[in-house]
Amino acid sequence: MSKNVLLATDKAFAKIAVDGIADIFPKAGYNLIKLENYTDKQDLLNAVKDAHAMIIRSDKVTAEVLEAAQNLQIVVRAGAGYDNVDLTKATEKNVCVMNTPGQNSNAVAELAFGLMLFLARKKFTEGNGTELRDKTVGIHAYGNVGRFVAMIARGFGMNVAAFDPYVETEKMEAEGIKVYTKVEDLYANCDYVSIHIPANEQTKKSINYDLLSKLMPGACVVNTARKEVMDEEGLVAIMNERTDIMYASDVAPDCHAEMVEKFGKRYHSTTKKMGAQTSEANVNAGLAAANQIVRFFENNDRTFQVNK
Ligand code: 3PG
Repeated sequence: MSKNVLLATDKAFAKIAVDGIADIFPKAGYNLIKLENYTDKQDLLNAVKDAHAMIIRSDKVTAEVLEAAQNLQIVVRAGAGYDNVDLTKATEKNVCVMNTPGQNSNAVAELAFGLMLFLARKKFTEGNGTELRDKTVGIHAYGNVGRFVAMIARGFGMNVAAFDPYVETEKMEAEGIKVYTKVEDLYANCDYVSIHIPANEQTKKSINYDLLSKLMPGACVVNTARKEVMDEEGLVAIMNERTDIMYASDVAPDCHAEMVEKFGKRYHSTTKKMGAQTSEANVNAGLAAANQIVRFFENNDRTFQVNK
């Protein structure tokens, strides 16, 4: 029986990526069903009913969605973070969940620099800003995005430091990174801190008042990871107390209105999550997701499965 693949993206991919995906499935004999830019959860619940596979972005695949998807065998999150998928329920229902690690990392890293420059140059308003050259960027988690941040930072003439307990110190040092083994030391010694940790039970609200209070004078924190890793009460408290520090975020925190009102000049957030919003990232992640689905069905290839 022919497979139905649902492309469910409330934030649609660029046309070039959708065209590329639409090219892959007919060749494998599968049907592609598109549900793009949807706003009503019911549309997703209806669309998953006949799906054997799904490609998603930050779309929420909850227990309710998985219950409605009686034929579903695989969900591929075209991107890195899979905190939007109920992994426990997926495993219970024998649904394989994958991500496409690394495919959109450069786009996210470039946005981190866009946000750094925007704040360093006073949000492109009048008056003197500062330069990135000779400053130190501290990379909080040296994964796929962190590595691109390090590479771009060198081009700006920055010093590069990192904290990542999951990556061997020698490996980071070999790539020219000043390694901190305590996260507090990273925050205490860097002009810019760029956050790249995933959102999970250990990391949610882990960027808290105590950690932020270690920041160097004039430091800027850029969060292109998830808003959930920030302890927002602690963030507001430290921004109140320390009038020298700045915060930029890809996707607004829940305390956005308060941040704008109180710290407008030292704060910026994108309106929608923009990190992976490039044609290149969409093509990389979207086509990788489509190919992973074909390999899963044809060869039982489970590379990149995250709910093992
Ligand atoms: C990711 O986890 O890959 C990024 O946050 C991108 O998310 P998006 O595909 O929803 O833009």
